[in-house]
Amino acid sequence: MRLAMIGSGYVGLVTGACFAEMGNNVICVDIDDKKIEQLSQGIVPIFEPGLDKMIKRNLKKGNLHFTTDVKFAIENSDIIFIAVGTPQSEDGSADLNHVLKAAEDIGRYLDHEAIIVDKSTVPVGTADRVKETINAQLKKRFGDRVPFEFDVVSNPEFLKEGDAVADFMKPDRVVVGASNEKSMKIMKELYRPFTMNHERFIAMDVRSAELTKYAANAMLATKISFINEISRIAEAVGADINKVRVGIGSDKRIGYYFIYPGVGYGGSCFPKDVRALEKMAEDNGIEPEIIKAVQHVNQAQRYYFLNKILSKFGEDLEGRVFAIWGLAFKPQTDDMREAPSITIIKELTKRGAFIKAYDPEAMENAKSFWLKDVKAIEYLPNKYDALNDADAMILLTEWKEFRSPDFYEIKKRLKNPVIFDGRNQYNKEFLKEFGFEYYQVGCRT
Ligand SMILES: NC(=O)c1ccc[n+]([C@@H]2O[C@H](COP(=O)([O-])OP(=O)(O)OC[C@H]3O[C@@H](n4cnc5c(N)ncnc54)[C@H](O)[C@@H]3O)[C@@H](O)[C@H]2O)c1
Repeated sequence: MRLAMIGSGYVGLVTGACFAEMGNNVICVDIDDKKIEQLSQGIVPIFEPGLDKMIKRNLKKGNLHFTTDVKFAIENSDIIFIAVGTPQSEDGSADLNHVLKAAEDIGRYLDHEAIIVDKSTVPVGTADRVKETINAQLKKRFGDRVPFEFDVVSNPEFLKEGDAVADFMKPDRVVVGASNEKSMKIMKELYRPFTMNHERFIAMDVRSAELTKYAANAMLATKISFINEISRIAEAVGADINKVRVGIGSDKRIGYYFIYPGVGYGGSCFPKDVRALEKMAEDNGIEPEIIKAVQHVNQAQRYYFLNKILSKFGEDLEGRVFAIWGLAFKPQTDDMREAPSITIIKELTKRGAFIKAYDPEAMENAKSFWLKDVKAIEYLPNKYDALNDADAMILLTEWKEFRSPDFYEIKKRLKNPVIFDGRNQYNKEFLKEFGFEYYQVGCRT
């Protein structure tokens, strides 16, 4: 099939590359000329395991194209995906400017029958707005006699950064919301190669599909905030959250996924989507009590962890040096959007501390954007160099390379053998015997 992706970010690129891999002809469009220039040469601007090889392979085969020419992409595609960003606007709702701009472009250039797919995460009712926006442009061109039909369907994306290619190739489910039977059939056919092993295609109406995405992210964020709240209770009452986690996860109805205590969730999706769901509920007369509490607990968790450091070293951190292991909001990505590391590093440097940071993938993003205003920071090429003469090591992202480090080396390099582990990666008893002062989330030291 002939496909266009409007927006070539995490979602547009992965979706485009995976559809091309299955033999479709895909045109990825973006307004960012630098990004498109790089991608056309096979240079992938984001870190996502497996993505660069897939892009290079399909570029070479000739079924994946990159362009800034949105007109060309629309004129040469039968299924047009809108995969642009939907950031948080000031009032907390999803900012639909990019989505509606893409819809306007479609209305301006579409000259044949097509299916328009909302892939971006958008509030309920957006498909109707996209349709209206396209129709308004078509009316300008054709009056009341538009010589072709189009349909707008919802197909929210559930991929996880860091596992995005694997998630897309073997999805848990593909959700499509459509009101037109023909569109639903075509979408089912498009996804057939990804669901051949067993049926994973879930068909529903457009509004339910739109809400499904928000409900899924809010549920996952709720699990994280729930375990984080329990972690604080555990510490206060003298229990160990690591044991409680296993104790509750063993119940199949609860499960082990997403109940790891830590420094709170971040990333490009959970924070903005949970906030947008709150706004959507309020706009529709519903008081979203759980959704509000989830966000409150998430913010508070960063400060609960920060307070452990301040309790040890005091409020005045002038002259203190901290080694930070991990900047990305989670492992296997260079994405730092809403990463807890940003809050913690800013709070520490605000009090006079100096940071020696290491992350396997996110340091460029930190340096050039997220932490560019932080002066008291040095980025080191490996995790051990970041430890030299530091008062403590602070682990904030659970990269695999941090799981079994050389504790002799850590002890040798640190000024004091102190570790603050924001992801509960190590064995408390083992580190104690090793002579470390070791702080975790959700249990006493
Ligand atoms: N990142 C994720 O893990 C993830 C997962 C599921 C769903 N989503 C959702 O998918 C959507 C896209 O997210 P993302 O992370 O890929 O965003 P992103 O910021 O990485 O990419 C968006 C891209 O769209 C481009 N763009 C903006 N306006 C454009 C226009 N008018 N024409 C062409 N290109 C345009 C931008 O330049 C950018 O490259 C969001 O709604 C997000 O919530 C993201």
